[in-house]
Amino acid sequence: MATSNKRSCLQYLLHLAQDNLDFRLPEIKALLALRGKPFHPSINFKEKSPFWCVDGLSEEDVRGIMARSVCAKSAFELWGHGQTHSELRTSLLNYPSENMSPFMHKDSTYRINVYTFNKTLEFADRIKRIDAMEYLPFEGAVSLKSPQHIFCLLEDYGTDPNNIPEHPHYIYFGRWIADGQRELIRSHSVKNRHFIGNTSMDAGLSFIMANHARVKENDLVFDPFVGTGSLLVACSQFRAYVCGTDIDYNTIHGKGRSSRKNHKWRGPDENIRANLRQYGTEKMYLDVMVSDASKPVWREAALFDAIITDPPYGIRESTRRTGSHKDNARPPDGIYVESHVPVSQAYHLSDIFSDLLNFSAHHLVMGGRLVYWLPVYRPEYCEEMVPLHPCLRLISNCEQTLSSHTSRRLITMEKIKEPEKTGSPSRQSGQVSSVR
Ligand SMILES: C[S@@+](CC[C@H](N)C(=O)[O-])C[C@H]1O[C@@H](n2cnc3c(N)ncnc32)[C@H](O)[C@@H]1O
Repeated sequence: MATSNKRSCLQYLLHLAQDNLDFRLPEIKALLALRGKPFHPSINFKEKSPFWCVDGLSEEDVRGIMARSVCAKSAFELWGHGQTHSELRTSLLNYPSENMSPFMHKDSTYRINVYTFNKTLEFADRIKRIDAMEYLPFEGAVSLKSPQHIFCLLEDYGTDPNNIPEHPHYIYFGRWIADGQRELIRSHSVKNRHFIGNTSMDAGLSFIMANHARVKENDLVFDPFVGTGSLLVACSQFRAYVCGTDIDYNTIHGKGRSSRKNHKWRGPDENIRANLRQYGTEKMYLDVMVSDASKPVWREAALFDAIITDPPYGIRESTRRTGSHKDNARPPDGIYVESHVPVSQAYHLSDIFSDLLNFSAHHLVMGGRLVYWLPVYRPEYCEEMVPLHPCLRLISNCEQTLSSHTSRRLITMEKIKEPEKTGSPSRQSGQVSSVR
């Protein structure tokens, strides 16, 4: 939309969803970084609030965030705010008229919406709120069906549903700019997905992971514990090429028992490729293969723009890797024994994460991101438990509580330097610290 160059000091209001609270700020930061913008420190928010005020951004930046965010519901150009309607009025009347006028002239059409957080208003009360805004110099005509400009009065009644105040804690008024991508959560729900398993990642979290990883068009993304490919689905939606590995033959080939209610066996086309086809992103699918993440099969090169994964925790699926308990059963190095069928042994959590960090240090491009889930036992958790690696910088660490005692933490790391070359680089040991 063409707006006057004279418009200045614009501030934006983000209306955020109230689930996955911990994930919201890292998502906004990552999406800003995708646009080449450093995080602006003057973002003004209470961590748990649904409303954040941001300044120092352009409308294009805000649109860019909203084109990707699944944590943000809507964004507004903030025209006024206050603790009471009278304060809001003063604030609005002080708002520079040159910022308002492009949207209020006589040839324009508009509508005002009323949104209340943590309180339901009767229809008549909404109309009263709108009528009370007659002090604003709107010259255009009201159009409820297809207005050129939408404005919104937003009232915040706090976050405690058991203690809803009579009057709002805070009130905002602004011009609607864009909605976020919450619709993706519904359209990609695993409930309606072609191929699912017991541990298929929820659609919203998959998109959050892709955003934390700053996945963008034409990136190459890898999931070493790919399962039914939920993370590939999300990344392909953002136009990245995707591939993965899993130790489970049946999962990779879409065979075996179905996880669907009333279905005993998986159907002929229940596989990851079909999932991407379902969402129209099959052309972003490279392939998946059966492989043990503890024994990387990739050539020694920085291949991937992002590694996004949900490693096995051993709660709903076993943590296995290939290998024999009997050392003497192994053929000598370099000798291939055709009849050798690998048996599996336990793959300890600490090994999973140190392998994952080492693999990422070697196979991410510089600046590429690793995003993965770390299960924790809450009573014993402390930040020092998060695995570190000298080549990876910790970007964010967000908690999703699962029960009073358990949670998982979404860890985002960024590659900042190349690992030193040794004889067997993919398996360098002693680099990962704090894995317990
Ligand atoms: C939590 S699930 C991943 C779920 C996946 N994100 C999805 O949406 O379906 C972990 C996966 O890791 C696989 N796995 C377990 N041990 C493995 C190993 N050593 N190497 C590769 N994959 C492994 C399991 O078969 C399982 O599919």
